[in-house]
Amino acid sequence: MNAPWKPGSNNGRDPFAAFVCDEDTLDLLRPVVEEMGLSSDKCNMGGLRNAVQTLSVSASPNILLVDLSESGDPLNDINSLAEVCEPGTVVIAMGQVNDVRLYRDLIVSGLQDYLLKPFTPEQLRDVLAQAQAVINAPKSDDAQAEKPHISTAVIGTRGGVGASTIATSLAWLLSKDKERMTALLDLDVHFGTGALSLDLEPGRGLTDAIDNPSRIDGLFIERAMIKANEKLSLLSAEAPINSPMMTDGTAFFQLQEEFRAAFDCTVIDLPRDMLINYPHLLGDVNATVIATELTLASARDCIRLLSWLKSHAAQSKVYVVANKVQTANLEISRQDFESSIERKIDILVPYDARTAAQSAKLGQALVEAGKSSKAAAKIVELADLVLGSVEGSEDDSDTGDKQSFMGKLGELKSFLPSKKVKEEAPKV
Ligand SMILES: Nc1ncnc2c1ncn2[C@@H]1O[C@H](COP(=O)(O)OP(=O)(O)OP(=O)(O)O)[C@@H](O)[C@H]1O
Ligand SMILES: [Mg+2]
Repeated sequence: MNAPWKPGSNNGRDPFAAFVCDEDTLDLLRPVVEEMGLSSDKCNMGGLRNAVQTLSVSASPNILLVDLSESGDPLNDINSLAEVCEPGTVVIAMGQVNDVRLYRDLIVSGLQDYLLKPFTPEQLRDVLAQAQAVINAPKSDDAQAEKPHISTAVIGTRGGVGASTIATSLAWLLSKDKERMTALLDLDVHFGTGALSLDLEPGRGLTDAIDNPSRIDGLFIERAMIKANEKLSLLSAEAPINSPMMTDGTAFFQLQEEFRAAFDCTVIDLPRDMLINYPHLLGDVNATVIATELTLASARDCIRLLSWLKSHAAQSKVYVVANKVQTANLEISRQDFESSIERKIDILVPYDARTAAQSAKLGQALVEAGKSSKAAAKIVELADLVLGSVEGSEDDSDTGDKQSFMGKLGELKSFLPSKKVKEEAPKV
């Protein structure tokens, strides 16, 4: 039960067994269990003690419901259950002790959930449905052996350049078009739009992870993440504005580790300040997407980000994506932008207000809302590049500092049209 999350219902085990302490609970249990397609014959009396005895001589079921009401030391007893219970079993406990510390400790020791007695049929139905979701969750165990995990961070050079739009679209494409189990981690903890843009509630998953990094394991991931589609899960937060983020970054490290084990791809929507505070976040990523606009300020920060990545995340392929590009009224031309950052822009996504608005209205990723748009087609190209990063086929252009930063910026400024001196209005 404490073993890493390993779903799969077709493993030759019984789907379900329950060991409860009283007739009332048994009576409540049976109809709900039947209704959920499980066998009520597997509802036994005898509580935890009987569960330990039975499981020590027989195979563990996929879902195990165990009553702790007669247990003097629930935590200790759960640990003895762990000794006889095979890995992969989803264990749900029930009991009469209403103590948040016990609940937390039980969850840490690998339990899926704790039902406080007396509980309603609805509550029981919910936890069983969640347990079934864990067991049935698709997981490409075999496919994963051939496909290495690909972790991608998306960073915007400036606020509002479309980093989150690209991150969400990329994650959506990886999960839908490329059929990879994908995790989208929105690290804009206070103001993230990952959930909003997919028409989902952010939940407390990321906040819980940050508060209790030691709780992060396969089961935690399964429970805390919100499903956007069959193969896309999201972890995000909408932390209260008056609560600063208090973390040394352990949680992010743990999350990345768990994602590597449970998904094929990770996409991190990474605000720039996170990069400053938690540089290790990029220590293991395979690809970094720098989302930018073609402006002077973006060029400056693109140069700085490229240089930072070169020294701090040299293992990562870097893709520069110019977004919201309008052919008219460009502050800086593509050519001038490229010469100032000393590398090519990999993908140029056109400005497409109609698709962006449609995406917001429908609560869908931009690539889904505007499937046939040119903007979507460009993000599809990006997804291909990202998938190619692990094979190492793409050759990054040189980001070397042949020139000082100020030198580059000075050169860049010369590309800007000189400001026209406006005639002052006559004073009256
Ligand atoms: N190619 C595009 N054409 C038109 N609008 C776009 C395009 N890409 C993104 N947008 C719009 O730009 C706005 C900002 O996008 P987004 O939230 O993705 O930016 P961000 O860089 O993540 O911003 P923040 O700095 O707040 O995190 C959104 O309204 C989005 O719909
Ligand atoms: Mg954003």
